[in-house]
Amino acid sequence: MDVLQTKESLAKELTQLKGQGRTIGFVPTMGALHRGHLSLVDCSRRQDDVTVVSIFVNPTQFNRRDDFEQYPRNLTSDLKDLEEAGVQVVFIPGEAEMYPEPDHRTFDFGQLDKVMEGHYRPGHFDGVAKIVSKLFDAVQPHRAYFGEKDFQQLVIIRDLTRQMDYDIEIIGCPIVREPNGLAISSRNKRLSAEQRKQAAQLSRVIFQARQYADRYAIDQLKAWVVAELNKNSEMDVEYFEVVDEATLTSVNAWSDAYYKRACVAAWVGQVRLIDNVKFYF
Ligand code: PAJ
Repeated sequence: MDVLQTKESLAKELTQLKGQGRTIGFVPTMGALHRGHLSLVDCSRRQDDVTVVSIFVNPTQFNRRDDFEQYPRNLTSDLKDLEEAGVQVVFIPGEAEMYPEPDHRTFDFGQLDKVMEGHYRPGHFDGVAKIVSKLFDAVQPHRAYFGEKDFQQLVIIRDLTRQMDYDIEIIGCPIVREPNGLAISSRNKRLSAEQRKQAAQLSRVIFQARQYADRYAIDQLKAWVVAELNKNSEMDVEYFEVVDEATLTSVNAWSDAYYKRACVAAWVGQVRLIDNVKFYF
């Protein structure tokens, strides 16, 4: 496994591999790797000749400096996991490599980055778009893999790829969960035993909501979900939305869109968690 820190050394290696006719799959991450990230690597390993993983904690997508500084960093164990997973190339640039000068670009995603995460984390998706476009330029993969865990991010990356005319196939991969249903996230480590139990309600309740869906109007269902979740002493729901998967606009009636997704964000103690589930029926 080659671990590279500069765009130049990466380009050199990838040009060679592409010259041999190999297909390149790319998995961008911020490290602190877990089974969710490794499932994206597996997805790529099944389809591509070479899998490239990047690890870069991107400062421009954090709204709060302390959140950026507290973000977990475990490079040694990350590299061990990637080696075991059969990754050929790891890109670990420093901040000056990715941002040699401030990146003042802004992106227009219309409604897509105004709602849900975009509403509660202003500027976040501009930061994601900045770094993902830089990484796409550096790697120029055939395919890139993103988790449905961050469903809004996946939709925005698809739009970015279309706008920038990248010749990259964007692949969305299913959410990997703990046995109790909790979507795996590096933030879960910060939960106490009691908070973990409560956090598991997040997926339980949204899965249950899907089963109840046809019996209730959307507004009623939303109110039920929020009330049910907020019964947990440590939980505070930020939003629960049922959106059209393509436009991310709120759906007002079940028949407004076929491909719908229910998305939730909630605080459990000091930890902010997100989850989502398909609502196709
Ligand atoms: P990060 O949070 O490290 O996540 C990297 C990728 O792993 C994302 O595509 C995310 O959706 C996916 N992922 C995380 N948890 C998952 C789970 N439980 N199941 C399936 N996939 C999961 O997302 C980012 O980094 C950054 O915004 C990035 C795209 C790297 C840009 O900085």
